[in-house]
Amino acid sequence: MLVLGIESSCDETAAAVIEDGRIIRSNIIASQVKTHAPFGGVVPELASREHLNHIAPVVTNALDDAGITLEQVDGIAVTQGPGLIGSLLVGISFAKSLAMVASKPIVGVNHIEGHVYSVVFENPPVRYPVLALIVSGGHTTLFLIPEEGRYAVLGRTRDDAAGEAYDKVAKLLGLGYPGGPVIDRLAESGDPRAAELVFTIPRMGSPNLDFSFSGLKTAVLRYVREKGIEPVVNSGKPTQQIIDLVASFQDKVIRSLLARLRAAVKRHHPQTIIVAGGVACNSALRRRVNEGDFGAPVYFPSPILTTDNAAMIAAAGHPKLARGENHGLEFTAITSMRLENFVVEGYEVPRTARYKL
Ligand code: KG4
Ligand code: ZN
Repeated sequence: MLVLGIESSCDETAAAVIEDGRIIRSNIIASQVKTHAPFGGVVPELASREHLNHIAPVVTNALDDAGITLEQVDGIAVTQGPGLIGSLLVGISFAKSLAMVASKPIVGVNHIEGHVYSVVFENPPVRYPVLALIVSGGHTTLFLIPEEGRYAVLGRTRDDAAGEAYDKVAKLLGLGYPGGPVIDRLAESGDPRAAELVFTIPRMGSPNLDFSFSGLKTAVLRYVREKGIEPVVNSGKPTQQIIDLVASFQDKVIRSLLARLRAAVKRHHPQTIIVAGGVACNSALRRRVNEGDFGAPVYFPSPILTTDNAAMIAAAGHPKLARGENHGLEFTAITSMRLENFVVEGYEVPRTARYKL
């Protein structure tokens, strides 16, 4: 079964062809990083415009690379949400027009579910229950997945996503955008104990394994002001003080992620652990997760499948299309689409969920 996946929820225009849910026939990604870099973050209007420019050639490339025509596709999977409205609509409208002209079934896929499925290509099949930590620029969420298609949130960020904290700290220090890869590289030669970052996290007051990163970000800002640290200008070389500071920041982020992951493992005894989403590219996070003994295998996607791509969207759409689902031409973008569909006893349903990209 061949599935064409299309992803345009944020700043990557992507299309991929997947065979039988697990084999990548093609995976095309047009990144907009250069467009948004001068602004230190994604500018929604520019993102939609770039998606419009790229969507047709990206899909054509994906089909050509896979050596197939649209007629040979068995179904189409497209990101329905969460994401930026203008960006999502470009992918959805394009996918629907393909479904219409070629009379193919089409399904809308949750972007976060895509990240969960990003591990299927390079690992043995998952065994349930699965624990999935999705850490990206828009999300930091810990899911319990007792069986395929059932998702409960064990914890989520109360404020900033982990990747967002990386990006904001990098911006503050003049390190460029996106911040994650730069900080990852610099932190390798920094001392994580050098900068004392004092911060409190809000009292969680619930059984949920929630995260919080905005206090840490503010602590970095305070440290910068107290020590009179000047940001790097014109892509100059960062001082050792900045390198130590980002190493200290990163150490705190990783500790916070690992602590919740460990607590969730202890409570729920997963058979497989998934760590995915852009921040899962982080080399120190990978190293420390791999060193930790969780009593279950940990699956990471390789870096190209960790950040946004359409292969993961096609993989998440595959079981739906294989079951005969067809969402037709009436569905539309849901900017704050939820993935969770049940609550584990003892956990609280969050009153507000902040989904941002
Ligand atoms: O999954 P993704 O491509 O987009 C969203 O769905 O948000 O994640 C992008 C995020 C950015 O915040 C970026 O700074 C972060 O992932 N990121 C990293 C690394 N590579 C990308 N964070 C830490 N270490 C990295 N190596
Ligand atoms: Zn993503």
